[in-house]
Amino acid sequence: MLRVDGLSHRFGNRAVLSDLSFALDKGGFAFLTGPSGSGKTTLLRILHGSLPLQTGRALVAGHDLAALRPSKLYQLRRDVSVVFQDFKILPERTVVENVALPLTVRGTPKARIERRVASILTALRLTELAHRPCAELAGGEQQRVAIARAVVAGPRLMLADEPTGNLDWELSLRLLDILRQFSAHGTAILMATHNRALVAAAPDAMVITLGGGEADPGGFDVGQAAAPDAAAEATP
Ligand SMILES: Nc1ncnc2c1ncn2[C@@H]1O[C@H](COP(=O)(O)OP(=O)(O)OP(=O)(O)O)[C@@H](O)[C@H]1O
Ligand SMILES: [Mg+2]
Repeated sequence: MLRVDGLSHRFGNRAVLSDLSFALDKGGFAFLTGPSGSGKTTLLRILHGSLPLQTGRALVAGHDLAALRPSKLYQLRRDVSVVFQDFKILPERTVVENVALPLTVRGTPKARIERRVASILTALRLTELAHRPCAELAGGEQQRVAIARAVVAGPRLMLADEPTGNLDWELSLRLLDILRQFSAHGTAILMATHNRALVAAAPDAMVITLGGGEADPGGFDVGQAAAPDAAAEATP
C-alpha cells in the first residue's frame, strides 16, 4: 500500500529526510515519530503529492510518485486522504457538510452519504454538533471533524499529521481505537505524533522514527533539530 525506498529531501542545503525506507501493507498501522523539525509533516506532504519527490522512490496506494504527473494528482488524492496539522476544514460550513464533502464530490447517492456520515459522526462523538458551523467549534472538535472527513470515503491510505494534537487523553485513546478499527477494515494509516504515551498504547503498531534513529528521552536530537528554522528558510 505504501512503499518508500531511499527517500531523501532537502530544503536549500538543509537535509530534512535522509535515505528513508519502509513499507506499510494494506490495512497496516504505523506511527511516525521524531522531534519537532525532524520532517514528519514534510514526509506526509511528499506522500500526498503536495511537495515534489526529490530523491528515492515512493509507491503510494499504487501510484508511483516519481512518474505521477501533476494533472493526475487527483487520482492519488482519491485513494489517499490526509488530516493536516491545521485541519483545513471549511469554517463557514456545518460539520455534516464538511464530513460529507469527499462523498459529495464523488457523486455518492444521497441516502448512502447520510448513512455513512451519521455512522462516522457517532463514532467520533460529533452527532450533537452535526449542524453547527465549524467556525464555532473548539479545536479538538474541529480536529475530529477533519478526521471524520478523512475517513468517510474509505481511503486506501490515510496520512494523519498529529491528529490528537488538540484532544485530551481520553479522546486521544478513543481516536486511536477508531483509527485502528479503520485499519482493520483495510485502510492503511500513517500517523505522525509526538505523543509517546499514545505510541505505547499500541505496542503492536509499527513505529517509524525520524531524526537520527532512536526516540530521544525528552531531549532534542541535535543533528536534526538544532539548526534554527530561520537559517533553513533563509537558504533558498
Ligand atoms: N517550505 C519549507 N522551506 C524551508 N524549510 C522548510 C519548509 N518546510 C519545512 N521546512 C523545514 O524542514 C524541517 C522539517 O519540518 P517539518 O514540518 O517536516 O517537521 P515536523 O517533524 O513535522 O515538526 P513538528 O513536530 O513541529 O510538526 C523544519 O526545520 C522546517 O523548518
Ligand atoms: Mg509537523
